[in-house]
Parts: sequence; C-alpha cells; structure tokens
Amino acid sequence: MAVLFGGRSTEHEVSISSATAVVQALDPTRYESVLVAIDHDGGWSLAEPEAGLLPDAVFGHADAVAAFPTTARGFDLLGAGRDDSALRAPIDVVFPMLHGRGGEDGEIQGLLELSGVAYVGCGVLSSALCMDKVASKRLLREAGLPIIEWLDTTRRAILEQPGPFLDRIEKRFGFPVFVKPANTGSSVGIERASTRRELEAALRNAARYDLQVLAEPALRAREIECAVLGGYEPKCSVPGEIVYRGEFYDYEAKYLSEQTELVLPAPIDEAKALEVRELAERAFRALSCWGMARVDFFLTEDTRDLLVNEVNTLPGFTEGSLYPRAWETTGIPMPELCNRLIELALERQRERAQLKTRYRSE
Ligand SMILES: Nc1ncnc2c1ncn2[C@@H]1O[C@H](COP(=O)(O)OP(=O)(O)O)[C@@H](O)[C@H]1O
Ligand SMILES: [Mg+2]
Repeated sequence: MAVLFGGRSTEHEVSISSATAVVQALDPTRYESVLVAIDHDGGWSLAEPEAGLLPDAVFGHADAVAAFPTTARGFDLLGAGRDDSALRAPIDVVFPMLHGRGGEDGEIQGLLELSGVAYVGCGVLSSALCMDKVASKRLLREAGLPIIEWLDTTRRAILEQPGPFLDRIEKRFGFPVFVKPANTGSSVGIERASTRRELEAALRNAARYDLQVLAEPALRAREIECAVLGGYEPKCSVPGEIVYRGEFYDYEAKYLSEQTELVLPAPIDEAKALEVRELAERAFRALSCWGMARVDFFLTEDTRDLLVNEVNTLPGFTEGSLYPRAWETTGIPMPELCNRLIELALERQRERAQLKTRYRSE
C-alpha cells in the first residue's frame, strides 16, 4: 500500500493534511503503508516505513527519505519489486491522495494504469472529465442532469480579441457572472464580475491558468455537497452544507477562514435531501466515476432548484473535510471508508485483468 501526496499543484498543502488523515486511519494490522512524497518541483521521495513518519512530517525529514530522480517521475518507484527498487515488497495498491492538477486530472491515474498497479478512486477518463468543467457539463447535460448554463472560449481568443466573447456573455447572461478556468480547483482563478470592465479583467485572469475559460450567470444559492462511494452500485451519503462568510466560497473561505462551517446533515427537508442523493448518484454514473467522488450542488434561493455545480474525484480527506465526515455521519467511519476504497480499487483491477489484450495473435 503506497500513499502518494503533495504534488505540483496549488493544493499541495491540503493534500498533505488529507494523506495524514488517511495514513492514521489505515489499519496497521491489515496494511503496510509506505509514504511517497511528491515535492513542488515534481520530485518523488519515499519515506522509510519504520521511521513512523506521517505525511505532514516527511518534507522536513531529508534523512528519512530516499529521493528518486525527478526525471523518473515515479516509474522507478512503481517498478516496485524489481531488484533495484527502493522498496522491499511490491506495492499492491496505491492511494493517490493528491488534489488538483497532475493528481486529480487523470495524469497520475495514467501512470498508475501503465504501471499495472491497483489504485483508489476514479480512472483516467473519469478523472480528466471531472476536472474539466466544460467537458463534464456537456456529459451531465446529456444525461439530463440540471446544470448551470455557460459559455466558453479559448485563452487565445481572450488575449487576442476578447470583444465578441464579452458581447455574447453580456447579451446572454447580463451581470453578475462567474468566470473560471476550465481546469482548476480550490477556486483558483475564479472571479465574480459585475461590469464589462470586471468581466474583461476576470477573463484575462482566468486565461493565466488554463487554455479554456468559461463564464456562467452568478446564482444566489446555498452550497450542498454529497459524498458518493462505490463501483457499479454507488451509494450516497447524507448531504452536507457549506456555510461561509464573504462573496463566494473562494480559496480563503476554503482553507484559511475560521468562519467557514460544514453543517452535517444539511438543514434541508427530506425530499430535497433525497433529490440530492439521486442526482449525485446519476452524476457519478454519467461521468463514469469509480470508487469515490464528491458531487457539489447549488440550491437556488428563489426557486429552490438543485443544480449540479461540479464533481470532484479526489475530495479533501482532512479532519474537517466533507467527504470523510459525511460518511461518518452516514455510518461509515474513516477506517472502514479506507477499507472499502481499497477493496474497490482491487475489484476494478481484477475485472480489468480479465479483459483480452490479444486478438488474433493467440
Ligand atoms: N455560477 C455561480 N454562481 C454563484 N457562485 C458560484 C458560481 N460558480 C462558482 N461559484 C462560487 O465559486 C466557488 C468555486 O467554484 P467552483 O466551480 O466550485 O470551482 P472549484 O473547482 O475551484 O471549486 C463555488 O463554490 C461558489 O461559491
Ligand atoms: Mg468547487
């Protein structure tokens, strides 16, 4: 069992806290875990298991970890069991406790897939789809799920000729609108714009983070989140509500503010809670998720409509995070949650191993 954490992402620090919570929850009589730290530059290092380190201490212990060349990008490590591997025993399952770019978007999942090792959570396609706000909206819409309408364009169009896109947004949505890079997380690069001037600045800012940018009408809505766990028969937790101070649930409100509160179960009536769970399960299926996902909703203030905002395939696992806490409230404590996720990783690997990889050459 290897827990990957850190990573070249704006969510590096959150990932360390998430991984610490996972390692502490894993049953030591059942799993032997090794810690694999990925630094801000993409270098991988392996912490000695007997050092008894937790992820949050690894980066400060240069002598307790063996560094892999950055260029190897993990292949050395994942070629576990080879004579020259730094590992004594092969790794049978990887828990990629990474958030954001490189960790949640299918890249690491592709590396793990190529390495033939089982891993927790969604596969390559599903991870990439859920990370991309435009691609996921298209599929959710096709599956008949309620989403927020949007317009998107390329970074190049914004830098070279933003006028036509500004016109389209103004005409279709008016103000205020939300502007987002298609692929980010933690609200990085997201701004609310109330005038054409602000809109242009927001588009230019979002274009710093991604090649594709989108705009949506700004809703007045409560934010409800639901944890989904499973494979072919996914189950949904009781929904939770995020209550924050400020204009929207930005980076500050997510990680720095003491005033952000997670309310579990969300104070909504039973019928709404049931609707959240049904929509969350459908979103999980529509985006081919496996293992886990957190489905985030808006509940509009005026019409009380539920809209799917986004699906996160590697949600936070820190002590205060919704995903583990919602399961705890629903009756699955963290150690059991980790067991199930690992079982699901192995189940998918077993099923994939049954697929034919030769056709006529047998
Ligand atoms: N259309 C919208 N209307 C109102 N608030 C929004 C809208 N889109 C995003 N937000 C606010 O911005 C936050 C971050 O946006 P989100 O799309 O969830 O991106 P991220 O992937 O960074 O979490 C949301 O949690 C919400 O507070
Ligand atoms: Mg979000």
